[in-house]
Amino acid sequence: MIARVRGTEDILDLKLHNFIIDKIRKHLQRYNFSEIQTPILEKTELFVRSLGQETDVVTKEMYTFETEGGDKICLRPEATAGTVRAFLENKIEQTPWKVWSYGSMFRHERPQKGRWRQFSQINMEVINSSSVSEDCLFLKMLDRFFSKDLSLENYVLKINFLGCLDDREKHKSELKKYVDVQKDKICETCLVRKEKNILRIFDCKNESCQKIYKDAPKITDYLCSESESEWNQIQECLDLLSVNYIHDFSLVRGLDYYNGIVFEFSSRDLGAQNAFCGGGRYELAKALGSKKEYPSIGCAIGLGRLMLLLETVIEKLDIPNEKKLVAIIPMAKEQNLLSLLIADKLQFNELSIDVLLDDASIKSKMRRANKIGASHVLIIGEEEQKNNTVSIKDMKTGESQSVKQGDIVKYFK
Ligand code: HAM
Repeated sequence: MIARVRGTEDILDLKLHNFIIDKIRKHLQRYNFSEIQTPILEKTELFVRSLGQETDVVTKEMYTFETEGGDKICLRPEATAGTVRAFLENKIEQTPWKVWSYGSMFRHERPQKGRWRQFSQINMEVINSSSVSEDCLFLKMLDRFFSKDLSLENYVLKINFLGCLDDREKHKSELKKYVDVQKDKICETCLVRKEKNILRIFDCKNESCQKIYKDAPKITDYLCSESESEWNQIQECLDLLSVNYIHDFSLVRGLDYYNGIVFEFSSRDLGAQNAFCGGGRYELAKALGSKKEYPSIGCAIGLGRLMLLLETVIEKLDIPNEKKLVAIIPMAKEQNLLSLLIADKLQFNELSIDVLLDDASIKSKMRRANKIGASHVLIIGEEEQKNNTVSIKDMKTGESQSVKQGDIVKYFK
């Protein structure tokens, strides 16, 4: 037997998935976001230029291949770069461009609970808006979605502020000095990160490294006056909007395109892979060849992780019940055609119907009707065929009733 590819999953019940997509679609309409779709296949260069040469995603996690024509193509590892590409390529003039999309992303990571190699994200971007008020509105929008629409309680919003390029350069050089002094005490990976992309050291899961970084220079201590004022405005505005957050100075995010605010929503209930939404402010257009920069903010929700989290509060959610299902049971082959005609009429009238056509006994078909959750069973035998009736059994009460074939729709409406 051929098994599925490691790190992928078969989702056999999409009720919760569809519930979340319905909710976010309605929620984002209230904030004037439009739904878009971009391709799963993109040029590899798109991600190399935008996510950063030294990021984990680009150095080791991308699914890339070369086409016969020699193009280097990959399965998208995230959606932001593709969205900005679409913005530039389609010459969108109406801004801020507020868009969202959802779909599969691919990263060759080590699979574990909450981490897959193929996973779904709900991605949202506001392209070309530089106001810090936009940042706060965006966070309020997300917080409201999780707390009100999805009734989630057990989560935290962590934020940090990465300032401008100069702030980061100043911070990085101070950080390097600090880590250099302690270089004998940190792990091999951190030693490499220190040289190649020092902010990544904060992602280290090693406890002894984390202890050292606790007292490391913080980016928010190296902000220029403009950045400092933005950072203060953000905190004040979030307080006014009653958005609870904690300042986590080690939150730097795994992709290089961020500046300004960065954030993550996480929950202890998820275990090691605890972030179910992450994002921040970024500038990507110039890196992708645009003459002009378009300051933007966005985020992605990890749909799989959100589903794991929602399973803990599922009884609080108003997930709509599936439509009433009616099973039609012809007693013998001679009633098959009549069963199909009746099923067709009922389906035309928007009822959910399953016709049990196999050669099994009535007893075993009744058992099956029960198993598939039929609320009613419609039995058609020789007698019913002759009299233009059907026998309808209510599976809950066990009562049966003979109904004229012309009156079945009325019976169910
Ligand atoms: P990210 O933090 O790489 O950001 O991913 C966002 C979310 O996707 C994570 O918080 C997590 O819930 C989920 N996720 C990431 N990798 C995996 C995986 N291997 N398995 C399951 N879930 C995963 C981005 O992707 C940015 N593009 C977000 C963004 C949009 N920033 C600005 N705009």
